[in-house]
Amino acid sequence: MAPISAPTRETIPISRPSLGDKEEQYVLEALRSSWVSSTGAFLSRFEKGMADFLGLRFGVATSNGTTALHLALAALGVGPGDEVLVPNLTFAATANAVIMAGAKPVLVDSLGDHWNLDPASAAQALSARTKAIIVVHLLGHACDMGPILDLCRQRSLLVVEDCAEALGCTWAGRKVGGLGQIGTFSFYANKVITTGEGGLCATDDPELEHRLRVFRAHGMSPDRPYWHEQVGFNYRMTNLSAAMGLAQLERMPALLARRRRLRELYDQGLRGLKGALVSFPAPGDTIDWLYPLFLDPAEAGVDRDQLLAILRRDGVDARPMFHPLHMMPPFVDMPRAPSMENSTRWGLTGVLLPLYPELSEEQVAYITARVAAALAGSAG
Ligand SMILES: Cc1ncc(COP(=O)(O)O)c(C=O)c1O
Repeated sequence: MAPISAPTRETIPISRPSLGDKEEQYVLEALRSSWVSSTGAFLSRFEKGMADFLGLRFGVATSNGTTALHLALAALGVGPGDEVLVPNLTFAATANAVIMAGAKPVLVDSLGDHWNLDPASAAQALSARTKAIIVVHLLGHACDMGPILDLCRQRSLLVVEDCAEALGCTWAGRKVGGLGQIGTFSFYANKVITTGEGGLCATDDPELEHRLRVFRAHGMSPDRPYWHEQVGFNYRMTNLSAAMGLAQLERMPALLARRRRLRELYDQGLRGLKGALVSFPAPGDTIDWLYPLFLDPAEAGVDRDQLLAILRRDGVDARPMFHPLHMMPPFVDMPRAPSMENSTRWGLTGVLLPLYPELSEEQVAYITARVAAALAGSAG
């Protein structure tokens, strides 16, 4: 086999948004219209476009995915005295939003054969104060929603789905984000579609939609200017961001297809390599976000941090999997399910490899070759 040379770009980034003529055209149109704050045609088109895509009645755009989570909890009436189940393995914003709402996160372990949350561990973490669960479809993989929804029905728990990394993913033929009361999304630059910074709450419930809109805009009455029904936030998205988001939404099928193609190439290059666990089936559909690889410490010739250091040296900006929350300062004393063993293993052995539409097939071949050499202990 011919040697694979390093790509010409200095470092292959972990992610990079795909922004083209359509984004430029829509953003320019928004700019020229002078509607640059949080009113404007692109906002309503983006909110409607997202709701239609999800098969739901309402989309309420926000300033980012974290504010979408906080807004969802506020609209659902989650607050002081309440406990909210959150996975121990997630980006910290999931738990931070619970604390922002004045409630207490209770950490739930992952499954043994998948990084997503374990419904049995969730059942063990319940208390008389548990009001809600935030289900995170992590790394674009749908959670095992059947047992989770059963548990929530039995215990009258509210369900928020954190779909920051899973836009477009389905479970049992339904888009994630519509399986509980509210689904939240992030449009940060590394996500499937981006608005720069941005987020969205999706729901089918008109009462919740009203509450989301009031909380989002200072607690102000939509019908009576400067009349504040309640205390609220300013979590609005700008029309400029929504213009970018609408262009991205229109291009999403192509963006997802390109991601899938690159993921398949990664699978082909890494599947079966000694020490590498890749290509995990999920109980629902998957979409392709960053590419996750987990090390089998007994088989791999390097540990996780050595692999990351080799890749960084070789011009690949790979990242560690999220650290388990219970190991980090703000969350060490949080209540939790009896065991955090699985989430700890996933968190400490995982590596996220670059995946974004403009990554080239040659770059994927280069990255998989560097990973293979590192795992075989021959990366130099
Ligand atoms: C699972 C998850 N939840 C929430 C967020 C927060 O989104 P944002 O960065 O837009 O606030 C992110 C990521 O960025 C995420 O990955």
